Amino acid sequence: MPVEFLGIAATNDGSETTPRSAGSFDKDYTLRLARAHEDHGWDRVLFAYGSGSPEPGTAAAYIAANTSRLQILLAHRPNVSYPTFAAKEFATLDQISDGRLTVHFITGGNDHEQQREGDFLTKDERYTRTREYIEIVRRVWTEHEAFDHQGDHFRFADFVADVFPVQQPSPDISFGGSSPAAYAAGGAVADIYALWGEPLAQTAQQIEAVKAAASAAGRSRPPRIQVAFRPIIAATEELAWEKAYRTVAAIKERRASGAWSRRGGQEPENAGSQRLVAIAGRGERYDRALWTPTAAATGGAGNSNALVGTPETVAAALLDYYDLGVDIISARGYDLLGDAIDFGRHVIPLVREEVARRDAAKAAAAAADPAPFEGALR
Ligand SMILES: Cc1cc2nc3c(=O)[nH]c(=O)nc-3n(C[C@H](O)[C@H](O)[C@H](O)COP(=O)(O)O)c2cc1C
Repeated sequence: MPVEFLGIAATNDGSETTPRSAGSFDKDYTLRLARAHEDHGWDRVLFAYGSGSPEPGTAAAYIAANTSRLQILLAHRPNVSYPTFAAKEFATLDQISDGRLTVHFITGGNDHEQQREGDFLTKDERYTRTREYIEIVRRVWTEHEAFDHQGDHFRFADFVADVFPVQQPSPDISFGGSSPAAYAAGGAVADIYALWGEPLAQTAQQIEAVKAAASAAGRSRPPRIQVAFRPIIAATEELAWEKAYRTVAAIKERRASGAWSRRGGQEPENAGSQRLVAIAGRGERYDRALWTPTAAATGGAGNSNALVGTPETVAAALLDYYDLGVDIISARGYDLLGDAIDFGRHVIPLVREEVARRDAAKAAAAAADPAPFEGALR
């Protein structure tokens, strides 16, 4: 199956290593960055959600109206709007983008960050709310007769939408998290399950947990798997490693000066970040090119493990994840615009070519002798 690439739809040029040069919503940069992804072989970009950040749905509408091919992954927290309202927002955005929307539902991994926008549920309660919310959104997208709803978190009567998504039966739903509650909820309802990049063995373990949850929920097809990294590439291995050490020094310096801090406190509450910190505590280098000091320096703040090396090395490392069953590779650098262009030019074509070659070889082998390859094609 062809591999897909997800980049970042940041609204300014700031990162863990770099102060932003303009406001938090820098309209020109937002569009330049999205167009750089569209022009350099990326499939989709993520509009992330933070309590104080520019509203990502509106930014996504702006980008959708000014691009033609790039797909949109919109992060959405169920606590910030009523599900009928959100379903209409998503349907309208799918119309604006001519069917390019996927919604990434965020349950929220940090109590303090959730409370900033009025959400005082516990994490387990938030997961039950996310499931109910997604169920409502899907009904609003697909039902043309008015319906009532009475659940644990939402109650309404006689609702029917007058706007529907272009994508039928509905846009894909993406889901992230690394706790048992996350696997159970996402395994049951997600089309795409998003993980942060970990060593191959730990990623395989998480993929198995998602598949087990999907099968426990009675699904015959598990969600597609997405894994996220921070590639640090250069023309030679030596230059790439120099860049990696410079990157982690800049993260540490900015963090120490208070210019940058992880969301909502020092110790991560979410399982995904705890896993990243623990993995970094056990070692700096794993497998072909995974490097954990960038995760350690940020306290495991989201997508933070690096892949370091030449484009060939990083492409080979990504192919190892493809072989594990990863369908979508999410990547962003530290110089968001420059790195999106470099990765698109130098890494994406290598990975796509090799995936196509492997898929063709598997298909040819399966055609010659179907029995041993039954079920092995992805
Ligand atoms: C690829 C990916 C992207 C995410 N994007 C966001 C985001 O933009 N905003 C946010 O608050 N949480 C984001 N999250 C966090 C998760 O959606 C989720 O709230 C958290 O990981 C749950 O914690 P758990 O791992 O303990 O279950 C993201 C997670 C993943 C895997």
